[in-house]
Amino acid sequence: MSKVTVHDKTFGVFIKREEILRRVAEVAARINEDYKVLNPLFLCILNGSFIFAADLFRCITIDAEISFIKLASYKGTSSSGNVVTAIGMEEDLHGRHVVIVEDIIDTGKTLHSFLPEIEHRHPASVKIATFLTKPSALKHDIKADYTCFEIENKFVVGYGLDYDKLGRNLPDLYILDEG
Ligand code: IMP
Ligand code: MG
Repeated sequence: MSKVTVHDKTFGVFIKREEILRRVAEVAARINEDYKVLNPLFLCILNGSFIFAADLFRCITIDAEISFIKLASYKGTSSSGNVVTAIGMEEDLHGRHVVIVEDIIDTGKTLHSFLPEIEHRHPASVKIATFLTKPSALKHDIKADYTCFEIENKFVVGYGLDYDKLGRNLPDLYILDEG
């Protein structure tokens, strides 16, 4: 399938599943090397990261744990605006080596608001693994430690990412058709 329609929009195939899996395996290999005896905790942010998280974690060969959380944002009292909090975080992060797993870092707003929540729990270290980044859309000082693909500032769907709730099940990554 080189074109798909999701809701009212047409998308063209952008990165094929085979290429995605090759790259995910490369990133996993780096994590295996960096975290050898540290028993990292992969903290995956739902919903978007679930496919990436599954493929990445399958390639992890060292001792490692995985957990899934959802983020909810509410208006904070400080001038910093919205506070993002985790739903379903049962793990004690104290002293743990945390790898946050995200589908995409777009403006960086989500992680910018959520990282203080993680730091507050005194982990030994925090790194970010993301399937995609859009460097030209970035508005906050967020830098991923492990990135599979840097893409231009265009809307993509598939491999866990949605367009208004649909398209997450597409095995390849698709990009919005222009015009
Ligand atoms: P942020 O701007 O870095 O906070 O990203 C917020 C969220 O927007 C991501 O976690 C995605 O769920 C969503 N998002 C950003 N860009 C795209 C895209 O191109 N396709 C689908 N979802 C996206
Ligand atoms: Mg997301």
